[in-house]
Amino acid sequence: MDVVDFYDHHPISAGQVLAAVRRRRGGLDGPLRAEDLFDHDQDHYGGLAAVETLARRAGIGPRSRVLDVCAGLAGPARFLAARRGCRVVALELNAGRAAGGARLTRLVGLESRVRVVRGDATALPLASGRFDACISQEALLHVHDKAAVLREAHRVLVPGGRLAFTDWVARSRLSDGERRRLREWMAATTLQTLDGYRALLGRAGFHAVEAEDLAAEWRRILGDRLTMYRAMRAETVARLGEARYQEYEQLYTFFVGLVETGKLGGGRFTGSR
Ligand SMILES: C[S@@+](CC[C@H](N)C(=O)[O-])C[C@H]1O[C@@H](n2cnc3c(N)ncnc32)[C@H](O)[C@@H]1O
Repeated sequence: MDVVDFYDHHPISAGQVLAAVRRRRGGLDGPLRAEDLFDHDQDHYGGLAAVETLARRAGIGPRSRVLDVCAGLAGPARFLAARRGCRVVALELNAGRAAGGARLTRLVGLESRVRVVRGDATALPLASGRFDACISQEALLHVHDKAAVLREAHRVLVPGGRLAFTDWVARSRLSDGERRRLREWMAATTLQTLDGYRALLGRAGFHAVEAEDLAAEWRRILGDRLTMYRAMRAETVARLGEARYQEYEQLYTFFVGLVETGKLGGGRFTGSR
């Protein structure tokens, strides 16, 4: 499946985020704050604590100019702007997600600090040396040319700027069938290893490179996420149909199985320009 198609048919959308808030508050009347969305607008593992950790690794403070690459609905970007007071550019390829991210940002009044830009992480439509920090979460699995993304992150950072990101990594050899399913079902084009990413970061010009193994942490989180998707069954069927719900359930179960058997895991990577 192509990555744009995958996110056009994903259970999490701007409409679903607002529907969840409406259900919880009994309506959408009254001002909406960024905090009201945080339980629903983060499409990565480990929730807000994971964004906090990346922010610390990237040295993000109130004056930082931050780039979030592959920003989804801009949930992490709004969290950083709201909690740390920084300015964030949220770069996203998928038109629906970029529009949804901009809409949610306007609704919570953060548009002066979070700018959503539609674009491709391998060829950033952004000037060089503009950012103090660059982050990304659970997205590079979708990008074939990961080296290009890292080179682009290096180009747009100021000297001394920090990159911090998380991504899936392969922990042992996957069979051809498993790789094909990950590609066709989850738009996971290629997967790096921890050492592979270390080498790519060095080649892109980063120094002080660190790679942390998140496999044990993600194993716990992934099971909960499958439970969450199952709990969203009724709204996913209403929005995308029974067939897509079944398909998503099947693909996610397969994916969780790979994580549980230790074939897939996660990594957190940092480096300085
Ligand atoms: C799992 S979501 C993560 C979203 C966000 N980082 C978060 O944590 O909420 C991955 C996102 O990467 C985006 N993406 C994939 N390939 C991309 C590319 N080449 N350039 C920009 N965005 C991309 C997808 O459209 C999707 O929104």
